Amino acid sequence: MKGILIAGIFVAFAIAVIDSLSCRQCYSPNESCSNIVTECAEGSVSCVESLVNSTLGGSPYLYQNRSCSANDCPKNSAQVAFTVHVFDDQSFHFASQCCQGEACNDTNHETGTQAITNTQCSACYRSNTTTTCEEKTRQCFQGERCVHIIADFVNGLGRVELKGCSDISESTCETLAPENTTVGEFIFRSVICENATTINTLTTKTPPTSTGIKASFTSSVFGSLLLLKLLF
Ligand SMILES: *[C@@H]1O[C@H](CO)[C@@H](O)[C@H](O)[C@H]1NC(C)=O
Ligand SMILES: *[C@@H]1O[C@H](CO)[C@@H](O)[C@H](O)[C@H]1NC(C)=O
Ligand SMILES: *[C@@H]1O[C@H](CO)[C@@H](O)[C@H](O)[C@H]1NC(C)=O
Ligand SMILES: *[C@@H]1O[C@H](CO)[C@@H](O)[C@H](O)[C@H]1NC(C)=O
Ligand SMILES: *[C@@H]1O[C@H](CO)[C@@H](O)[C@H](O)[C@H]1NC(C)=O
Ligand SMILES: *[C@@H]1O[C@H](CO)[C@@H](O)[C@H](O)[C@H]1NC(C)=O
Ligand SMILES: *[C@@H]1O[C@H](CO)[C@@H](O)[C@H](O)[C@H]1NC(C)=O
Repeated sequence: MKGILIAGIFVAFAIAVIDSLSCRQCYSPNESCSNIVTECAEGSVSCVESLVNSTLGGSPYLYQNRSCSANDCPKNSAQVAFTVHVFDDQSFHFASQCCQGEACNDTNHETGTQAITNTQCSACYRSNTTTTCEEKTRQCFQGERCVHIIADFVNGLGRVELKGCSDISESTCETLAPENTTVGEFIFRSVICENATTINTLTTKTPPTSTGIKASFTSSVFGSLLLLKLLF
């Protein structure tokens, strides 16, 4: 009986040694990584992946770092992924995940056709190179909330400040709310999430020009119809 138990333990141990961890491994700030997994060095217990895909400032920026880690994954921030829409053609996608004892999969972040809503957020971004966060209004997609994020790269490479509409989840907001929460290679100095405000066209004091044009167009069409009715 005792012999069987010891043999069992030995077999389990042997399997653990043979079945060593493999992770996707790459570091490519400028190009895409492949999804191929390679065996980790001895003592690795988790796979860690960071991704930043940004078009802020009009120039594409991609940062990817996937590696094996000798540390266990943190309990509450094992996976964080969100996109902040700042301007029409400028967004910031951040994703970080830690996979305990197994290779990571892609975080599902396919954004198909998104429905625009009548909600809005204040939007701007500031990096090292710009000095002010020049705020504009951003109309949000379905399911987005307003965020104000200030984050630093762990390696001291710089800071980014963002305001805009984001698909960030309520639980991710809670995870990142405490000052200086580190996830992957980012230190989130401050993360504030709020519900997007509903645009109320009736009480807007200074309507945006496009609405103004639409309104005057509508009234002129209406006016012509009225005129036609009077003529015939
Ligand atoms: C990434 O690309 C930029 C601009 O194309 C270049 O200045 C930089 O040296 C590149 N970085 C690496 C690590 O290749
Ligand atoms: C980065 O974003 C662009 C545009 O949204 C997308 O086409 C590309 O596949 C993304 N790259 C990665 C590595 O996620
Ligand atoms: C990639 O990420 C790992 C784990 O977070 C980190 O130890 C390593 O320094 C990073 N690589 C580079 C080149 O920054
Ligand atoms: C990745 O996907 C495979 C197959 O769907 C699954 O077995 C595995 O648990 C997933 N890994 C993670 C870290 O979610
Ligand atoms: C941002 O500022 C930090 C610290 O002042 C500096 O190390 C880094 O090179 C700067 N990055 C850019 C892109 O200017
Ligand atoms: C967060 O980090 C900054 C800069 O290192 C520090 O000044 C501040 O006291 C930290 N805040 C907390 C709550 O740890
Ligand atoms: C934000 O919106 C959610 C769902 O739309 C709602 O349950 C919640 O009460 C709202 N929070 C605030 C502070 O208005």
